[in-house]
Amino acid sequence: MGSFQAPLLFAMTQPLLTPFRLGALKLRNRVVMAPLTRCRCDNPGYVPTAMMARYYAQRASAGLIISEGTVVSPQARGYPFTPGIWSAEQVAGWRLVTDAVHAKGGLIACQLWHCGRLSLPEFHDGQPPVAPSAVNPEWKMFSITGKPETVTPHALTRDEIKAVVGDFRTAAANAMAAGFDGIEIHSSNGYLFHQFFSPLANRRDDEYGGSHENRARFFFEVLDAIGEVMPFNRVGFRLNPMMSRFHGVSVDADTVPMWEHIVRRANDYGLAFLHLTEPFLPKQLDDTEGGLADVGAHFRPLATMPIIANGGLDQAKGEARLEAGLCDAVAYGKAWIANPDLVERFASQSPLNEPDMATFYQGGEKGYLDYPTLAA
Ligand SMILES: Cc1cc2nc3c(=O)[nH]c(=O)nc-3n(C[C@H](O)[C@H](O)[C@H](O)COP(=O)(O)O)c2cc1C
Repeated sequence: MGSFQAPLLFAMTQPLLTPFRLGALKLRNRVVMAPLTRCRCDNPGYVPTAMMARYYAQRASAGLIISEGTVVSPQARGYPFTPGIWSAEQVAGWRLVTDAVHAKGGLIACQLWHCGRLSLPEFHDGQPPVAPSAVNPEWKMFSITGKPETVTPHALTRDEIKAVVGDFRTAAANAMAAGFDGIEIHSSNGYLFHQFFSPLANRRDDEYGGSHENRARFFFEVLDAIGEVMPFNRVGFRLNPMMSRFHGVSVDADTVPMWEHIVRRANDYGLAFLHLTEPFLPKQLDDTEGGLADVGAHFRPLATMPIIANGGLDQAKGEARLEAGLCDAVAYGKAWIANPDLVERFASQSPLNEPDMATFYQGGEKGYLDYPTLAA
């Protein structure tokens, strides 16, 4: 008996394993699964599959799963084999996933994604992708045809921006119809929202460019539109302010004030969470002015909504951030890929499996469904 008591007591007192409420989402622990594109959607309709339902169900003991980036429209696509949420077939496919997660008592939010200029003509019948301005991010993308270079995108007209806002509204409604518990807006990592935020990508001189208010306008129009179809206490968003010299965006003296503007305005909405990524890429902050070594510490006092921390954290670092009051939950990425029972491993202080990068995006069950659990 004695040998079982110590781990049990430890598990009960670990901050990561205590329940918490993110808006309407009642998490049974604070170990969140970060959004992870896995390119397993190997069908022409971008429809989530039964294999994906098995993968997510394996990880249902997370306090909250945030789905892989899910494109809101054909125009939003940028990578092969990534799921969508614009068609009835996709909604039915996602229903397999949400039912499988709910059957195990888990919660799952859908990450809504638009790649903007980080896309390729091959997704658009040879036409360029769309962006706030006609500025090439000059980045190498992944494709079934190799690693092609990005192109100069088409600058969205104001009417086209309204259409994209409508696509997000429809996608949010579809996510609710598919049984998701909430959504996360993918407003980070150099994709469409981040392109509007960054002066490197946004050179507009209309109401969508220039001032902080103007560069954030598209994001808040999308948020308002999403609020027409679902409650804000089921909506979160993701920011990665220290995305430096990656995906065609970078950090400069304007970055922190710009992101402060976004967070302060978002406070008015009563959102479920703000998901903040810390600098975690190697050499991410070298030679950058205006960078923050600790994103959470900077934004915690500014944000009235709960915060999920992410980026290069392990169990001890996640717990330390919770104990220091820097966040309310911790999202793990690569650790969830390799450990379907990450929560159980944290609870019992067990060693973790190492992720195999070669199978992150390659398709098939290998490196997807076959990581061992402690019980196996
Ligand atoms: C294979 C892989 C796929 C990813 N896909 C997404 C994605 O779809 N959306 C997103 O916002 N971030 C994505 N990310 C970033 C992760 O959510 C996370 O921020 C990153 O892995 C850092 O967290 P970690 O150090 O715990 O792994 C991806 C990362 C990896 C490794």
